[in-house]
Amino acid sequence: MDKIKQFINFLNEIGYEEIRVKMEKEKIQEQKPSYKKTETLLEKLKKEILKCEKCRLAATRTNVVFGEGNPKANLMFIGEAPGEQEDLQGRPFIGRAGQLLTKFLNLFEIERDRVYIANIVKCRPPKNRNPQPDEIKTCFYYLEKQIEIIKPKVIICLGAFASRTILNLPEKTAISKTRGKEFNINGVTVIPTFHPAYLLRNRRGESDFQKDLELGLKIAEMI
Ligand code: URA
Repeated sequence: MDKIKQFINFLNEIGYEEIRVKMEKEKIQEQKPSYKKTETLLEKLKKEILKCEKCRLAATRTNVVFGEGNPKANLMFIGEAPGEQEDLQGRPFIGRAGQLLTKFLNLFEIERDRVYIANIVKCRPPKNRNPQPDEIKTCFYYLEKQIEIIKPKVIICLGAFASRTILNLPEKTAISKTRGKEFNINGVTVIPTFHPAYLLRNRRGESDFQKDLELGLKIAEMI
């Protein structure tokens, strides 16, 4: 035992601990590239997606809704698909549901530009119908790339479509089965919760939503 203590003291004396801490820090920084680099990678991906015609939604969209926010966000929200306003303006979650999401973030004194907001599918399904499995499958390639670039610590899935897709759950898995739980997907904490559009119709879900948001913000070390 004494020999072990002596050896540890020796390592400390020669600065081993400092070297180890430095290497750990460098490893983390390596995993998270600089803001500029991340922004450039996202811009490159965006250019590719703006031209996308891989599924039928390309024929009816006004704008592709790529996503927006902090390219190095610790927290990423993933919704279902753009609605009317989002399609018109090419920005995610800016309609009534989006305004509610912003309001909840502001409750925790978090501005939208500190997080990243994206959707499972980047083009509006006609008349806001549900995205079809083949559309989700085709578009998932882009979302995976976005996640790979941003490297969030936490993903909050807004609603059943986002939750099922990210967690690879069977079709028809109800959001009530998964909401508020923490999942770990490749080292990223995934938290399913209600879609803000659901909260517009069911105010009783608001306190659970707030709880899920608080959990996500804490794990993302934003509060
Ligand atoms: N609903 C979504 O799921 N995404 C949006 O961008 C807007 C509304």
